[in-house]
Amino acid sequence: MENNIPVHVAICMDGNGRWATRQGLKRSEGHKAGSKTLEKLAIHVFKTGVKYLSVYAFSTDNFKRTKEEVDYLMNLFIIMFKTKLKSLDKENIKVVFSGRKDPLRKDVLAAMDSIVERTKNNTRGILNICLNYGGQEEIVDASKKIIEDVNAGIINKNDLNKEIFYKYLYQDLPPIDFFIRTSGEYRVSNFMLYQMSYSEFYFTDTLFPDFNESEFDKALEEFKLRDRRFGKN
Ligand code: FPP
Repeated sequence: MENNIPVHVAICMDGNGRWATRQGLKRSEGHKAGSKTLEKLAIHVFKTGVKYLSVYAFSTDNFKRTKEEVDYLMNLFIIMFKTKLKSLDKENIKVVFSGRKDPLRKDVLAAMDSIVERTKNNTRGILNICLNYGGQEEIVDASKKIIEDVNAGIINKNDLNKEIFYKYLYQDLPPIDFFIRTSGEYRVSNFMLYQMSYSEFYFTDTLFPDFNESEFDKALEEFKLRDRRFGKN
């Protein structure tokens, strides 16, 4: 880890709804503001030297929200993937997704494919967007793929270890060094459970739309002071 900069950062972008409600706006306005924050923040995060950024855009449980809010978010994702996130392509950032396809709409899946395709040869960093994602679901889905490979004789059960397990997750990314959650909630909410085994946690009361570049820098300064022992003394 160069200059104590985390290799992989994960952000739970929480508080969009409250940000809007506090200003007398509809919740959807909070999501729109959050999307603008993410656009700028992602570019900044990679400038600090971080190589992988995972963001929690939509959990499998978020489908329990009202149809109006789910539809708004899905349409916002389409706009972001088709147009707004082009700035990431210019910055040589590759975009990948983690999560289940079902029951995402066809137009959402097509927009996801378009940004993956457009950025697939970029090499400076990877933005992993977790959409229709659940951490327990990811472990279950990985386990099913492993069973298939064991049954097909592709791997031997006794060769399976925690490193190889990563290869069966939605994306084969390094472990998360630094987990940030905005909006004053102290929960993991089923986010990247396998990858978070030795993550440092950072919680801030700042609501996601206000989590700007300087807020990230403040978090990074705190990360640099952490004494990571990975079980050693
Ligand atoms: C949590 O806030 C936020 C979400 C469920 C959506 C996150 C989406 C974005 C930031 C939009 C852009 C994302 C991409 C990938 C283009 P909340 O609604 O739970 O807020 P609350 O807890 O205040 O209600």
